[in-house]
Amino acid sequence: MDKFKSISISPKSLEAIKSFKLPEDLAFGKVMAPIMIESNYDNGKWDEFKMVPYQQLTLDPTCKALHYAQEIFEGLKGYYTNAKGPFLFRPEENMKRFNLSAKRMAMAEIPEESFLDGVDAITSYCSQFIPVSSGDSLYIRPFMFASENSLGIKPSEKFKFLIVASPSQAYFKSGSVKVLVEEDAVRACPGGVGHAKTGGNYAASLLSMINANKKGYDQVLWLDAVTKENIEEMSGMNFFAVYGEKLRTPELTETILNGITRKSIIQLATHLGYKVEEKTMKVSELVEDVKSGACSEAFACGTAVIITPINTLGLSNGETFPLQHEQGPVAMKLRKALLDIQEGTGDDPFGWRKTLSPQQ
Ligand code: COI
Repeated sequence: MDKFKSISISPKSLEAIKSFKLPEDLAFGKVMAPIMIESNYDNGKWDEFKMVPYQQLTLDPTCKALHYAQEIFEGLKGYYTNAKGPFLFRPEENMKRFNLSAKRMAMAEIPEESFLDGVDAITSYCSQFIPVSSGDSLYIRPFMFASENSLGIKPSEKFKFLIVASPSQAYFKSGSVKVLVEEDAVRACPGGVGHAKTGGNYAASLLSMINANKKGYDQVLWLDAVTKENIEEMSGMNFFAVYGEKLRTPELTETILNGITRKSIIQLATHLGYKVEEKTMKVSELVEDVKSGACSEAFACGTAVIITPINTLGLSNGETFPLQHEQGPVAMKLRKALLDIQEGTGDDPFGWRKTLSPQQ
C-alpha cells in the first residue's frame, strides 16, 4: 500500500475489518476499532510498523512500564460528518508533541513518517466506523511504553508503540461542567513532567477527581505547585476565561500541557476578532471577576472535550460561583467554528484539516 508506505497492512487486519459490526451505543473510548498499528523498538531500532487485528497484549510481570510508568500517549480525532471525510486535525502537531514527551521520559522517538502514516492508515481503514453526528468521532490513541523486562530502575532499552482507535460519542454527556478549584493537591511541579503527555500526570489527578465528584463537581482546576495562586490546567483540558471580547488563558509553562486545541483556539479566536491574552492568571482574581460579572464565561478545551463551557466554579470552603451563562455565546461560537474546520463543514483558513481517502 504505497499510500501508507511505512506501514505494512496484514491480510488478517483486513479480515478483522470485514467481520466487525459497530455497536449502537458507543459512549467515549469504550468500543475499540478492530485494527491497530504496532511496532517494537529493540537494539536501537524500530521493527516494521504493521497494521494488525486489535488484540490483547501479553506482558511479563516485570515489564518496566508496569513498575516505573515510562509511558506516553497522544489523542487525536478522525471525522466523517455530512458524508465527507475522513478528516484529521493537525496530526503533525501530535507527532511533534509525542516525540517531545518521548525525550522527556527517556524513551525512543518515533520516525515522523511512521507516526503520521500509522494515524492515516488506521483512520482510512476505519472510515466506515466513524460515527457521523457532529461532535462524535474516531478517537485515535497513539501510545508507547517501556517493554523491557527487569526490575532495575534504569531507562528501558525496549519499547512498544501502538495506535488504537475508538469510534466515540462526545466526552461529556452534559453540555457544560462544574469545576472545583483544587487548593491542596498539585498536578505538576517545576522541573517535573507536567508538559509531557505521560500517564503519571493523569494518575496523579484521579484522587482529586474522586473527591470533586463526591462534592458534585465534574472536574478540578489545578493551581501551580509553588504559590498555589495561579491557574494551570484541568488534566486533559486547558482553561480559558472570557472577558467580553477578550479571552484569557494561562501562559504555557513546563507544568502545563501544550494543548493543540488550546493553540488552535488562540489562533482561531484572534482570526475571529477576539483579543487573546496568554498570561499568569490568579485564581483569586478570577473568582472576583466571576462575582462581578467582568468574567462572563469560562470553558475547558482539549481534543476529547472540544470546547466545553464551565457553568460553575467552586472553592474548597464550599463557596460556589456560577458563571453568567451555562453555555456562553463566545464558547459556543468558538466551538462551532472549530468543529466546522475539523468536520469539513466550513472553510479551513489555516490549512489544519487533512483529508484522507476511505479504504475498505
Ligand atoms: C485528549 O483530549 O486527547 C486527552 O488527552 C484527554 C484524555 C485524557 C481523555
